[in-house]
Amino acid sequence: MSSPTATPVLRPIGPVDLAAERAQLGPALEEAMLRVLRSGQYILGPEVEAFEKSFAAFCGVPHAGVAVANGTDALVVALRAACVVPGDHVVTAPFTFFASAGAIAWLGAIPRLADVELDTGLMDLDKAAAVCDSKTTAILPVHLYGQMVDMKGYRALCDKRGISLVEDCAQSHGASRDGVNCGQLGDAAAFSFYPTKNLGACGEGGMVLSRHEKVVAKARRVREHGSPVRYTHTELGTNSRMQGLQGAALNCKLPYLAGWNARRAAIAARYDAALKGTKSVLPLVRRPNSVHVYHQYTVRIVGDVTREAVLERLKAQQIFAQIHYPSPVHLQEAAKPWGYGPGDFPNAERLAKEVVCLPVHPFLTDAEVDRVAEQLMLAADGR
Ligand SMILES: Cc1ncc(COP(=O)(O)O)c(C=O)c1O
Repeated sequence: MSSPTATPVLRPIGPVDLAAERAQLGPALEEAMLRVLRSGQYILGPEVEAFEKSFAAFCGVPHAGVAVANGTDALVVALRAACVVPGDHVVTAPFTFFASAGAIAWLGAIPRLADVELDTGLMDLDKAAAVCDSKTTAILPVHLYGQMVDMKGYRALCDKRGISLVEDCAQSHGASRDGVNCGQLGDAAAFSFYPTKNLGACGEGGMVLSRHEKVVAKARRVREHGSPVRYTHTELGTNSRMQGLQGAALNCKLPYLAGWNARRAAIAARYDAALKGTKSVLPLVRRPNSVHVYHQYTVRIVGDVTREAVLERLKAQQIFAQIHYPSPVHLQEAAKPWGYGPGDFPNAERLAKEVVCLPVHPFLTDAEVDRVAEQLMLAADGR
């Protein structure tokens, strides 16, 4: 029997709550998955086709998308569809998940990196412009943490140089900036539906979107062995078809996405208010005219207390914050052939040392958000 004075056991607060998400979806998710199992349409099929249309419509892109096996494949297929070939230079950010740069190199192209802005973590447009050279055929900005880069600026830069603009939208489903949705202004855009993303499959998934019919058609061919018609191969491609089960799951979840994003934004606003004036905790900045979908709510720990000590103190309170990303792309061993070293991208290196991503999933209660903010301030600022 617990004593009447025992402190209540608080539930752990982590980066996602997939059980709560399943509970909200009710039996519809399992019924949709069962429909696919019974139909035998395991690869592509009607569920995937429906999702290709509805996700493109959600993003305000005129052509149905091309559903692929994961977000990394979406990047590779999008770059190929935008005509990037081996030996080309493609500009991307050093502070992102490795796949953004890795996909470029996997294609045989060469990642050229441009540092990020310290206050947002987004690739700096002027620095990206300065990195472009005569071999650059594309720029791949990343809409990091759920906030879009200045797409109008990147569009103007790419148009001026006559090169492609490919968006990494793995973390930004539903984001917009200056009235433009992510996926709308690039020549191609790559999405991930990894289960922890703002819109996640029950497994792996990805999608390529484009406003150009030709790019969509090429992406569709590249997804399937460069094959416009069965057993006819007009170019090299790969096998990256989305599974029917994932299409069914994503169809079920898409109607909830706008509400989930709104809840993430409300949680972010609550953190902003709670953390105002804190000395050692600097939340990353949201740009004006930006609808940020807060895939992550990220702060920089800048005081005397180490980030590790802060994380440990939070963990002791059952609060599981995360570091995205502890090492910048250019300092990874796999990036050695690209010829960069320590000190080349000071903002990326600094962010990799300072950032902490707080729990921001849509199933947190206000009380839990307050608890995270309070514990963070205690840990970082001693108040
Ligand atoms: C910015 C970014 N790009 C690409 C990817 C790759 O997506 P996936 O894990 O679905 O291959 C991710 C996923 O974590 C990501 O965050």
